[in-house]
Amino acid sequence: MHVLVTGGAGFIGSHLSAKLLSLGASVTVIDDLSAGDMGGVPKGVNIIEGCITDSASLSNAMQGSDVVFHLAAIASVPLCEADPAWSDKVNLQASLEIISAANCPVIFASSAAIYGEPVEIPIAENHPISPVGYYGQQKATIDANICSLGPQSTPACALRFFNVYGAGQDPSSQYSGVLSIFIDRASNGRQITIFGDGEQTRDFIHVSDVVQALLLTGSSLVESGVSSPAHASSFNICTGSPVTLNEVVDVISSHVEGDVAVSHEEGREGDIKHSSGDSTKLQSTFDWKPETSLTDGLLSLLS
Ligand code: NAD
Ligand code: UD1
Repeated sequence: MHVLVTGGAGFIGSHLSAKLLSLGASVTVIDDLSAGDMGGVPKGVNIIEGCITDSASLSNAMQGSDVVFHLAAIASVPLCEADPAWSDKVNLQASLEIISAANCPVIFASSAAIYGEPVEIPIAENHPISPVGYYGQQKATIDANICSLGPQSTPACALRFFNVYGAGQDPSSQYSGVLSIFIDRASNGRQITIFGDGEQTRDFIHVSDVVQALLLTGSSLVESGVSSPAHASSFNICTGSPVTLNEVVDVISSHVEGDVAVSHEEGREGDIKHSSGDSTKLQSTFDWKPETSLTDGLLSLLS
């Protein structure tokens, strides 16, 4: 099985690539290293350092693939706000090209951001799509494109990740996932900054559970093509157990030595207040459930 992972040098992509290799797949990664790091890509992976907006690099990477996991994106909400034209090229146009050019199933990394501020919690897949910023709008367009595919099209599905965390998530940028930043800072005696009052909620899902969801939907699309229940469908990938940032800080504080200094800054532009998903659809369609609790996941990162 020849598998292409776009964005495979990133946080989720490197975990997925390692798992695919361990299952015996031949794995190719295309990544421009704008956020990823080849150091995280396991040995044995065929690496193409290139940009998905470059058609030649993309078609070279897609050549001979049996399935494409499309994870490459500007994954940060504020970075997309800062440069919507570039995120339009990467997150929107290149994604459309991948879906239309693929001769094999495509699994797309969609996002909870497409729902915007929820009108109902927990958020199921039929919740209104009302993204707040460019990142969410661009993800929503690709997600809708996939959900409207017909029986003659490329087999494809959209996985709507909530807030993914785990080992290997780069804490060094202010645009990284909040848990990696908080844990890194607290463990090194540095101050944590909370944007807003810290009462915003997030549904944090461990990367191993995300990888499992990618594998299950990917293998179903490979085996059954457009007859797969995943085809032209979307699935929430979440725990259904939201926590506030203040609660996260409390857990971290009780497991590091010394006091954790916390400061507050104004809430981020494009930030949503609450996020909590319902993953019943994925659980009832495939043999999936979240296995790692937030406490276990946090403790493994703190130890
Ligand atoms: P990440 O930033 O660690 O990984 C994304 C990778 O894509 C990086 O390695 C980056 O270098 C690469 N990339 C960016 N632009 C590129 C381009 N033009 N050409 C080639 N490669 C490019 O992010 P992640 O957390 O691993 O996220 C993976 C995917 O999941 C993204 O599509 C993201 O939007 C989506 N997602 C992530 C989360 C989360 O909480 N981490 C939640 C919802 C959705
Ligand atoms: C995250 C993902 C995004 C995904 C979305 C799905 C990252 C970088 N972004 O966005 O790809 O589509 O989940 O729900 O993984 N915060 C602080 N202090 C900090 C950093 C962040 O208070 O130092 C706050 C933010 O303002 C936000 C919350 O923490 O309210 C979460 O931020 P972040 O981890 O960047 O994720 P999302 O914006 O939710």
